[in-house]
Amino acid sequence: MPGGIVWLTGLSGAGKSTLSAALAARLAPLRPIEALDGDDVRTFLSAGLGYSRADRDTNVHRIAYVARLLARHGVLVLVAAISPYADTRQRLRELSTAAGHPFLEVFVHAPLATVIERDVKGLYRRAQAGEIPSFTGISDPYEPPPSPDVEVRTDRESLADCEARILAALTARGLISA
Ligand code: ADX
Repeated sequence: MPGGIVWLTGLSGAGKSTLSAALAARLAPLRPIEALDGDDVRTFLSAGLGYSRADRDTNVHRIAYVARLLARHGVLVLVAAISPYADTRQRLRELSTAAGHPFLEVFVHAPLATVIERDVKGLYRRAQAGEIPSFTGISDPYEPPPSPDVEVRTDRESLADCEARILAALTARGLISA
């Protein structure tokens, strides 16, 4: 089975990591799979990078580079990173497809009001209080994908439904067998 990259983009707290972990657990018995999560990457691969546009771009280019290496060995790579800039994500898609790896952009969509209300990590409250500069959605941009391969609405759809729609897209692309 070929490798590929599933790129989950969305606001902090939208549910990227939750979805990625659920998909990884489900797919692990079926095919080679790996998950690269923004928070882990920033601890181990991108330590020292901040949240300027340049640093975010460096961060996601590093993740995509590792993802391509894994994909080359037949791994389906699930990436969960805010990756707020549309043209950067487009560039990552180009690099992936040029290397021969399918790239699925998944917009993990929850309205800003919802993620502020969830505030899983307490960061929105701090960002709104001015304690975290350049916080995505509050004082820094998030550019939604104009034409994602899949869009899931985590405020309206259950986790199982979101998962099922991504799995269907993976099946359609030949990345998992029906
Ligand atoms: S990205 O923009 O470079 O793709 P990434 O997904 O790696 O971001 O990291 C986002 C995580 O970093 C958030 O979920 C949050 O926990 C933390 N974080 C800390 N500061 C910020 C900030 N200024 N903006 C967004 N996320 C931040």
